[in-house]
Amino acid sequence: MKRSKRVEALDQRRVNRDGFIDEWPEKGFIAMSSPYDPEPSVRVENGVITELDGKKREEFDFIDQFIADYAIRVDRAEESMAVPSLEIARRIVDIHVSRDEILKLVSGITPAKMKEVINHLNVVELMMGMQKMRARRVPGNQAHITNLKDDPVQIAADAAEGALRGFSEEETTMGIARYAPFSAIALLIGSQVGRRGVLTQCSAEEATELELGIRGFTTYAETLSVYGTEKVFIDGDDTPYSKAFLNAAYASRGLKVRFTSGSGSEVLMGSTEKKSMLYLECRCLYMTKGAGSQGIQNGSVSCIGITASVPAGIREVIGENLVAALLGLECASSNDQSFSNSDMRRTARTMLQFMPGTDFIFSGYAAEPNYDNMFAGSNFDAEDFDDYNVIQRDMQVDGGLKPVTEEDVIRVRRKAGQAVQAVFRYLNLAEVTDEQVEAVTYAHGSKDTLNRDVVADLMGIEEMMKKGVTGIDVVKALAETGFEDVADSILNMLKQRVIGDYMHTAAILDENFHVMSGVNTPNNYMGPGTGYRVDGKRWEEIKQIPHRIDRHKF
Ligand code: 5AD
Ligand code: CA
Repeated sequence: MKRSKRVEALDQRRVNRDGFIDEWPEKGFIAMSSPYDPEPSVRVENGVITELDGKKREEFDFIDQFIADYAIRVDRAEESMAVPSLEIARRIVDIHVSRDEILKLVSGITPAKMKEVINHLNVVELMMGMQKMRARRVPGNQAHITNLKDDPVQIAADAAEGALRGFSEEETTMGIARYAPFSAIALLIGSQVGRRGVLTQCSAEEATELELGIRGFTTYAETLSVYGTEKVFIDGDDTPYSKAFLNAAYASRGLKVRFTSGSGSEVLMGSTEKKSMLYLECRCLYMTKGAGSQGIQNGSVSCIGITASVPAGIREVIGENLVAALLGLECASSNDQSFSNSDMRRTARTMLQFMPGTDFIFSGYAAEPNYDNMFAGSNFDAEDFDDYNVIQRDMQVDGGLKPVTEEDVIRVRRKAGQAVQAVFRYLNLAEVTDEQVEAVTYAHGSKDTLNRDVVADLMGIEEMMKKGVTGIDVVKALAETGFEDVADSILNMLKQRVIGDYMHTAAILDENFHVMSGVNTPNNYMGPGTGYRVDGKRWEEIKQIPHRIDRHKF
């Protein structure tokens, strides 16, 4: 066939490198509704749910059982189920119906009914729903802080810069698993240099992660994964009950806990029972609620390539985010793993969470260049900071970040590097040279930094774990080496573990360590003139992008 030059040009566009597939319910490639999804139903006998979405209790798998026993308000089930799904959908977007009323109504409906409700909403209505149902009044943002070399000095510097730029939570992970303790300490120190009160996490194998938390090196845990079919759970050697136990283990030691789920995982694992992605994700979210987790990281997350490949996949993503909010959970709404070669498409996808605002618009914005992201590339990274800041300014939307000056970036990066150097020296963990601190201060990524002695680092880590070093030792080291302010900040983070208020739904800390959560600063949106508005000091901050004509200079 003679080729059309027009079509040839289109074929070359980056969007056509993305993967797309037809709807195929038998294999789970179906976003919003599968012909095999169950019809909503509930039956309550003597205060026990004996039928759920077409199944009798005898036919329940462990997910149905867990949901029936722990995730649905039995006393409200029959009344809520009697309200037509379309009516519930309309109340969600009705500005005269409050968030509290919706939470109450929805607490009695089943997963299949929830799926039906979401299907009645188009993307703008889903965003309207999120604007009202988000737990915390002020939206937030979360960063990935990682690098190819697992260099703790760079982690500290990137964490400081990320905190300065506005992230309320920062998380790290490693190429070499044994680096975890250094990564966690560097992240803790760096984050507090950038902005007091930032929460941190180190994603590692479960026993390590618990240990780091218990020692006071981290303040939250996030990757407690749940899945929508029994088979996938069993493949991961888990059950909803084991996840609930793990949740309690973290929470009992004063760590904020967030579960993770998201559409597409069951498709990837080859066990969808022919159900739609949205229905399976509803089951995950009900389990999360039933397990007592305050929140969820969802929106397909690491399986976004699957969800984005099917029709209405991106609509499904904001749909599942909204289900989380409807269940009263904190929602860290993905925009996490990269899924598209097209700048237009990756930006469009983000707008669905950015415009209404969610508790964490990104559950992992890469605060380093793409090549340094050890979670796999993110939808947005460090090279997108200015684009993001301009979009916030264009739309007068609070996306959780702010423009910064180059002087401040350099200042906090250097201080973070020096603080890690001082702590590592004081505790005799490993050598950090002045040249390493200098390189990291001005670096964009690990291509610009000096190599560390990995063997020496790993020996230092082993020694440190044996000696039982804890967060208090880090505080002491900082206090005795001239970093009293950072010491004070980390001591305050440790105090939070005892106070426990930051374990409330959607909690973050401000620079005075005051909690802002869905409990003490709840979202009170009820149409124009209510809810969170970008104004005052925050709006002035957003306006100050670096490359503008500054009228004060004339
Ligand atoms: N379902 C369940 N867990 C997920 N994670 C990411 N995406 C999903 C999903 N769709 C969790 C996994 C992964 C971490 C980054 O987050 O535990 O390792
Ligand atoms: Ca995350």
